[in-house]
Amino acid sequence: MVSILDKRHRPLRDLRISVTDRCNFRCTYCMPAEIFGPDYPFLNKEELLSFEEIERLATLFAKDLGVVKLRITGGEPLMRKDLPILIEKLAKIPGIEDIAMTTNGTLLPLYADKLKKAGLHRVTISLDSLNPERFKQMNGRHISIQKVFDGIKAAKKAGLAIKINMVVQKGVNDQDILPMAAYFKKEGHILRFIEFMDVGNTNKWNLEHVMTKKEIIDLIDSKNPIKPEPPRYAGEVANRFFYEDGSGEIGIISSVSDAFCGSCNRARLSARGELFTCLFASSGFDLKRIIRTTENDEDITRILKELWSNRHDQYSTEREQKKDQKKVEMSYIGG
Ligand code: GTP
Ligand code: 5AD
Ligand code: SF4
Ligand code: SF4
Repeated sequence: MVSILDKRHRPLRDLRISVTDRCNFRCTYCMPAEIFGPDYPFLNKEELLSFEEIERLATLFAKDLGVVKLRITGGEPLMRKDLPILIEKLAKIPGIEDIAMTTNGTLLPLYADKLKKAGLHRVTISLDSLNPERFKQMNGRHISIQKVFDGIKAAKKAGLAIKINMVVQKGVNDQDILPMAAYFKKEGHILRFIEFMDVGNTNKWNLEHVMTKKEIIDLIDSKNPIKPEPPRYAGEVANRFFYEDGSGEIGIISSVSDAFCGSCNRARLSARGELFTCLFASSGFDLKRIIRTTENDEDITRILKELWSNRHDQYSTEREQKKDQKKVEMSYIGG
């Protein structure tokens, strides 16, 4: 397998592709409604990469940079028209072993079957609370939790593997940790708790609202003993735990209290076609301009290799020194 190493000796394996900056939710920590209002200038069609352009880039990343895993993100990726057509193209790329999608789940009843048939392997569904009122509050659009349950059901029926992501904010939804753990243990889906992060510039992040990995582990362990498990693959984001009674798995993503930049093998292609080598970067490299003006793929590959070889990002490790710098909004690069 090709391994291009960055300045910190990290290979590239995981390309995360944002296909739209739009979302039908307005989660307070990601796209707060007061900022992402009716007049918000979302990208228009010409500003987005076309499916053919995404396919071309992903093919080069797989062939020449060592990418084996693709994750489709947004905003909400299913807001992009005809998404299964893109998945079908990506599934045919030699070298791609895993195609996943991060979604809020509400549109899965319409698309789960088509996505599975197109070659999608799995979905990660975001859900922050089982409490119907709190869920409505947190999604900023008063959308019923039933829509997410319907999405989970549709994904299961279609044969997609499922994980659930819960962003935990102290004082907002930490009371939901145990009910969520109990529910998804029973349902047999891996639930991952994500420490609230300072992504973007608009989510009013504050360290006091972060529930740390240790606090989450202690809470769950006190009810239902858990034991650590080794990562499933190099550079896995989540720390994995098994319930000691053998009844399932959870994960914890601790970007704040225990950074994992040392093994970060991820690059992000934004909805407008820029390459970001860190979730917290201030700017990305305009690949859209390059592919729209360059016919020769080898010239593009040369640029991609240069970008990765010169990378030295490790924002989470350096959070204290870097926290005041401008950061890209999560809705352009999908988390
Ligand atoms: P699997 O492929 O199932 O192992 O999941 P994944 O590692 O691709 O995880 P997923 O995309 O579900 O990521 C979960 C969350 O972790 C994201 O939504 C982000 O909030 C956070 N996350 C993922 N990658 C990074 C990263 O490189 N840095 C930081 N700081 N957070 C990340
Ligand atoms: N902190 C942690 N996770 C976040 N996500 C979005 N914003 C944040 C944040 N500020 C997560 C979502 C979803 C994925 C797209 O990223 O919950 O799982
Ligand atoms: Fe939409 Fe996901 Fe952001 Fe919520 S976290 S606003 S569902 S993209
Ligand atoms: Fe990778 Fe940046 Fe996240 Fe560190 S903060 S793990 S370098 S994306």
